[in-house]
Amino acid sequence: MTKTSVVILAAGLGTRMRSKLAKVLHRAGGLTLIEHVVRAARAVADPADIVAVVGHQAEKVAATVEPLGLRTALQAEQKGTGHAVAMARHHLENAGGWLVVLYGDVPLLSAATVKRLVAEHESSGKDATVMTCEIADPAAYGRIIRNAAGNVAAIVEYKAATDEQRKIKEINSGIYCFRSDLVWKYIGEIQTNNPAGEYYLTDLVEIFNKNGHTVGAMQIEDFNELLGINNKVELAEMDAMFRMRKVRELMVDGVTVERPETVTVDVDVRVAPDAWIEPFVRLSGSTVIGEDARIGTGCVIEDSTIGAGAQILPYSIVSESEIGEGARVGPFARLRTHNSVGANCHIGNFVELKKTKMAAGAKANHLAYLGDSVIGAKTNVGAGTITCNYDGKNKHQTVIGDGAFIGSNATLVAPVTIGNEAYVAAGSVITDEVPDISLALGRARQTVKEGWKPKHKRTS
Ligand code: UD1
Ligand code: CA
Repeated sequence: MTKTSVVILAAGLGTRMRSKLAKVLHRAGGLTLIEHVVRAARAVADPADIVAVVGHQAEKVAATVEPLGLRTALQAEQKGTGHAVAMARHHLENAGGWLVVLYGDVPLLSAATVKRLVAEHESSGKDATVMTCEIADPAAYGRIIRNAAGNVAAIVEYKAATDEQRKIKEINSGIYCFRSDLVWKYIGEIQTNNPAGEYYLTDLVEIFNKNGHTVGAMQIEDFNELLGINNKVELAEMDAMFRMRKVRELMVDGVTVERPETVTVDVDVRVAPDAWIEPFVRLSGSTVIGEDARIGTGCVIEDSTIGAGAQILPYSIVSESEIGEGARVGPFARLRTHNSVGANCHIGNFVELKKTKMAAGAKANHLAYLGDSVIGAKTNVGAGTITCNYDGKNKHQTVIGDGAFIGSNATLVAPVTIGNEAYVAAGSVITDEVPDISLALGRARQTVKEGWKPKHKRTS
């Protein structure tokens, strides 16, 4: 295939978002709008051949796309789509091949459709191809004017269109594939003699025709792919479309989803067949869910891996953690980041874990805080156990061996080590090492005063 470059227009203000955040940085389906567009662009071009035209909040938008390998061009003042493309000239003028134009705020456009645009453009032998769509209510979109041969003679903006032209149902998507050299040859000829006083990229179509170059059209069926957003109502509708598309894909792939309309899954999340997702679950980022795992109502799982057959019971929050096969977590557990919970472990209600590694079969079934700790296989951590990992300045580690038993309400003052098969008596405060196969008691001995009564009840 001929070399293809892409320019993504993303300088617009997005005033109606009423937000301090640039429009293209709002999120739908778990990614910023522009990240979706970059992915579609990647279907036809290398990152180094994709240029984002930035303006409003240029630095923030650049900080999002540059790590993806894109270059950026600044459009300091938004003077129209033609002006925006012209800003990328210094990056792309010698690129040759094809130049595809995409919008940073049209995120549902699929990689497959962009690929098809370039493929049809290439096989048509034409000098430009406009992506179009026929819609019942063409509203304020630019209208496609065809010539006798069926090619595109011009695009007329709604504001400049005659009543007759406004009846045309075929609209301009704003997505094009051009012969790159011709764009740079003619872009300077675009004038601002229109009702908006802007440089319209659409004028290139007429300019191409005037100079004997042919412009074709590629019609697409699914108008949703062309949807942009202008305010937060439309953003929410777009997000819902991404969520529904994702959850449908999962169900088609064999995942059981109860009440799919209530479930929020980011585009990159992977879920294996026969996993079961209950209502009102949120799965985000790079989360991976294994086969036969079950995610209970109200769970929030972020950037985590849940092993096959594991059960995350309702209202648990798991962030940046790994849960082993067959483990059981929750209800109401919080795994705060960087935890690794081994196969068949049990983490019960109101247990909080942070930077904790639990080997296979270990248990902490009720009301515990385990931070910066390593817990051996099959060790049982009793209710109310607290690792005192912070001395007000630094964090310290608690290491517990295999097969140990930590009695309820133990206070483990880190740094501290507890050996294999060691026992810690309930209510102990442990400040010193507990060797293997030993019992540590760190509490005041109970004393009983027989016959004792409170003062006010005493007679003598
Ligand atoms: C444009 C097309 C119209 C088409 C419609 C499809 C023109 C003149 N008209 O109209 O035919 O039907 O898209 O949605 O091209 N942008 C910049 N810098 C600018 C102006 C725009 O980066 O100076 C970006 C915007 O952020 C946006 C995109 O270009 O992502 C389109 O701009 P917009 O103002 O929405 O174009 P429309 O008037 O809708
Ligand atoms: Ca628009």
